[in-house]
Amino acid sequence: MPFRRKKISIIGAGQVGATCALMAASRDMGDVVLLDRDAGTAKGKALDILQAGAVQLFDGTVRGTIDYADTAGSDVVVVTAGSPRRPGLTRDDLLAINAGVVASCCREIKRSSPEAVVIIVTNPLDAMTFIASRELGFPRQRVLGMAGVLDSARFRSFVAEELQVSVRDVQALVLGGHGGSMVPMPRHCFVGGVPLTQLLAPERIQALVERARLGGDEIVGLLATGSAYYAPAASIVQMAEAVLRNQRRILPCAALLEGEYGVSGLFVGVPCLLGGGGLEKVCEFELDATERAAFEHSVARVRALVDDLSRLGL
Ligand code: 2OP
Repeated sequence: MPFRRKKISIIGAGQVGATCALMAASRDMGDVVLLDRDAGTAKGKALDILQAGAVQLFDGTVRGTIDYADTAGSDVVVVTAGSPRRPGLTRDDLLAINAGVVASCCREIKRSSPEAVVIIVTNPLDAMTFIASRELGFPRQRVLGMAGVLDSARFRSFVAEELQVSVRDVQALVLGGHGGSMVPMPRHCFVGGVPLTQLLAPERIQALVERARLGGDEIVGLLATGSAYYAPAASIVQMAEAVLRNQRRILPCAALLEGEYGVSGLFVGVPCLLGGGGLEKVCEFELDATERAAFEHSVARVRALVDDLSRLGL
């Protein structure tokens, strides 16, 4: 059988989508399709990325389009379409605006790429992933939300900065919903194999936890015109690469829980084994009483968002 290149389609050519396309192309993850409802934006950014390849020496094709037919047969589809966060607009405020956008994208994806692993990025993340799953009707292995990799990256970078060590040597885990209720897990943060709790005083750890929790808001406040995109795009690409290259990475992602951690029927951030089939396994481990309480609080926030969807008839 001839070798078939992998295909990754990115829906939404805004800052997150276009940066994701650039990173995916430069890592030669496969043929990249960048779709937007604005043809000029999709085609212009795709062409720009392609030309960057001539300088940075990557060969992948990048195609801009408004037509889902060009995304047909994708192995991975990333949904970034929707309104971004802005100052004064919480993730929850975006619920009503973005639910319709995500639902219509997913109806198209279901037709054009019925075998794809779909990664949702649009906020409010946990609710949008829920909507996507409902519209797609795909098994839970093939519908994931991107948040935990980003939230952990923020926590890791703050820890590395505080301790003045390479971020490569900082491992961390953030669970729960994406938003103010996320649950950074200091007990599961290691610096060069040493627990963070042995390296920093509890007040300092708490300060870093708080900063990670508000990591997205800090950037929204600074940018004033939108939300973060470099770290979100890098996080999407790490998840997509784990799938496209069947890497069997353990990454925190929003996954549909079916009894794990005592939760059913909701997308919540948990450690996931990601491989060629998408979600290969939800990794479960014991939470202590404090972690359990914080996790349950976060799950309750996600449940409230999903309840809002039905209240609003979405
Ligand atoms: C963030 O946390 C916008 O959710 C995105 O930066």
